[in-house]
Amino acid sequence: MRLLEQVLFWAHGLSAAAWFGAIFYRAAVIDGKAFGYFPDRREYERFTTHLAHGMRYLVTAGLLTCGLTGFALLGLRWSPGNDAWVGLMAAKVVVWLGACGLFAYVSWVHWPWRSLAAPAEMPGYRREGVVLAAAMVALSGTGFLLGQAGRLAG
Ligand code: HEM
Repeated sequence: MRLLEQVLFWAHGLSAAAWFGAIFYRAAVIDGKAFGYFPDRREYERFTTHLAHGMRYLVTAGLLTCGLTGFALLGLRWSPGNDAWVGLMAAKVVVWLGACGLFAYVSWVHWPWRSLAAPAEMPGYRREGVVLAAAMVALSGTGFLLGQAGRLAG
């Protein structure tokens, strides 16, 4: 049981770190650099859509790995007497569900519409993309904070 818990803990932390790192790097570094590199905004949009293409499967895998290992850990570490811990874990479920919902919007609404945008619509989609990425970084960062707090409270 101890080994299983350790493996789950490793997979949980690693998938969360990969997910956080990928969005953070894309939002904080790649987008700004690409925006400066392509003065023609249509070229920039083509490049950024190309980067997003196919990411749906990778991000879905990361979110599912993080969530499923999280629920398995929840079962293994379940301590109903510890209200603070249970509250933190409930908050984690809410944050994770929020991230899944946000990702569904980004992947199935934002990018499909953005890839068909007319030049006049591009600045609006770029602004929306920045807000969505910041919200995703905030959600995954909150998941980390709650995970650390869970260890302290557990
Ligand atoms: C929002 C996405 C999530 C992120 C970023 C995340 C991240 C983390 C981190 C960083 C830790 C602690 C690792 C450490 O301190 O070394 C952790 C622990 C844990 N997470 Fe998550 N997690 C997420 C979602 C979930 C979900 C949906 C569940 C299921 C309820 C869950 C259940 C747990 C459990 C049970 C622990 C162990 C807490 C303890 O030691 O008492 N996590 N998580």
